[in-house]
Amino acid sequence: MKKYAEIIGWGKCAPPAILTNNDLATFMDTSDEWIYSRTGIKQRHIAHVPCSEMSYVASERAIACAGIDAKEIDLVIFGTNSPDQMVPNSASLIVNRIGATHATGFDLNSACTSFLYALNVATDMIKAGSIKTALVIGMEKTSTIMDWGKRDSSVLFGDGGGAVILQATDEALGLLDAKLSLVMDTREAIELPGLGMNMTHKEMSEFYYSLNFLGQEVFKNAIKGMQDACTSLLERTNTAQEEIDFFVPHQANARIIQTLAKRMGIGMDNVMLCVERYGNTSAGTIPLALCDALTEGRIKPGMLLLTATFGAGLTCGAGLIRWGKRVTPIAESDVQLPICDKTALEIIRPAIDAAKKRYGKL
Ligand code: UT7
Repeated sequence: MKKYAEIIGWGKCAPPAILTNNDLATFMDTSDEWIYSRTGIKQRHIAHVPCSEMSYVASERAIACAGIDAKEIDLVIFGTNSPDQMVPNSASLIVNRIGATHATGFDLNSACTSFLYALNVATDMIKAGSIKTALVIGMEKTSTIMDWGKRDSSVLFGDGGGAVILQATDEALGLLDAKLSLVMDTREAIELPGLGMNMTHKEMSEFYYSLNFLGQEVFKNAIKGMQDACTSLLERTNTAQEEIDFFVPHQANARIIQTLAKRMGIGMDNVMLCVERYGNTSAGTIPLALCDALTEGRIKPGMLLLTATFGAGLTCGAGLIRWGKRVTPIAESDVQLPICDKTALEIIRPAIDAAKKRYGKL
């Protein structure tokens, strides 16, 4: 019998410290008016812990929500651009911390699209019958790699994300199909050249994470890339646009989401928009949006969801998800992040000071 991979558990983690647009305006030449009108962002969360700690909390919440034992998990895929370290991978840390004694794990980085790409890989492995239960994480600590001297990019991002549990079923539920794609000749539109082995033997003084960014290039190619992926997916699955109950897109910019929804003929009443409270959490946006949509009661049993995503590469993708019967958690986890005794501005102060040193002033 054909297998599917139902999403039976979900959990998010947004760190407590909040950095508002007005906080940003205290140290760089920007304003709440500029940021909100161009992006729809009002605030972002800033992590006082590593990416793996937030992922551990989100994973425990997803496991409790699913009502399973961690020992049932066969595979953990950790979608992120901001792992604590490259070797060993971060998924192995999560496998150990949650006590998933029968699981293995790997990290997956396709930039902001990493959660959907990881969801697709895990779903296909369940469909193929090689595993039965998977934990898929989309989590970022983008604040570590922000260049606070670049106001066009640093105001856009935030920390946080979520995790889901997938389990094999005979019912046509979960990620039914996905279209993953890449927009050619746009690799330089978003680049983080300091992150990777090119820098391995450079002087420490040369270590400086700086996000190179062509905002308008990204804006137009992201919309086209996501629209093409959605259209191709709907055609391939014989799905009419009217059959889509709810749209959960990557949360990078409210204007990108509004333009895409309009082109897809989906009214904003049926679109999840939460970029205002989190900013762009890269691989974390879709699981965060899914969790909030469920908490807000916007995802109902049996709904057909469309998701769409883009990120550096430019990698793009779209997915069709049939939700199951349950839209509430089976149980809540009592796992929490360690207490945070700093404000968001205090957490990022060393990085602001490094940017001031590099650029002279901000
Ligand atoms: O996963 C990757 C996510 N990346 C994205 O989603 C980026 C997609 N692109 C965008 O969202 C938009 O292009 C931005 C929000 C980044 C920029 O909006 P824009 O309408 O394309 O503005 P712009 O780049 O054309 O800049 C307009 C002006 C410039 O000043 P001048 O040259 O007109 O005097 C910028 O220097 O806005 C200035 N500016 C700012 N002003 C205040 C750029 N950043 C800021 C800022 N605060 N933070």
